[in-house]
Amino acid sequence: MIRPIVLWGAEVLEKPSEPVSNITDAEIKLVQDMIETMYKAPGVGLAAPQVGVSKRIMVTDATGGEKKNHLLTILNPEMVAAEGEQFEEEGCLSIPGFSAVVARPKKIVLRGLDLNGKEIIFEGSDLLARAFSHEIDHLDGKFFLDHLSFIKRDIIKRRIRKLIRQGKWE
Ligand code: NI
Repeated sequence: MIRPIVLWGAEVLEKPSEPVSNITDAEIKLVQDMIETMYKAPGVGLAAPQVGVSKRIMVTDATGGEKKNHLLTILNPEMVAAEGEQFEEEGCLSIPGFSAVVARPKKIVLRGLDLNGKEIIFEGSDLLARAFSHEIDHLDGKFFLDHLSFIKRDIIKRRIRKLIRQGKWE
């Protein structure tokens, strides 16, 4: 089931998400829906708070579903190593219509759980590292905007607030 994507301004996106302590049918259904929602968008990553659920769950597919076996589901992800730097244009499904060049690590190693509760280690570079970093930000209540200079961030926030006032932010 495709779930509506929550947009910037919603409280659920501005607070740290709760760690997952039990993997029940609800978490499994949530992950299935997040995967469908991510591919439909289309996007290369999605975090649970973006569908309104404050849990530390993220899905990524740096190929956007173009290639098989690139789909990752990670619960309670933690960044255990980060290396290098990359600068690319980046957007967010919760901030449609806006993008900016954001500095991210070139390589990231994550530790988390899969849907069976088994500990997994994942290494991502380039776009996958960017997605890892971006989705972990969501789980911590942050946006790519928080990586920009005050001036750039302020310009985008003013434009979003204007869209909200006009009733065009949905
Ligand atoms: Ni995002």
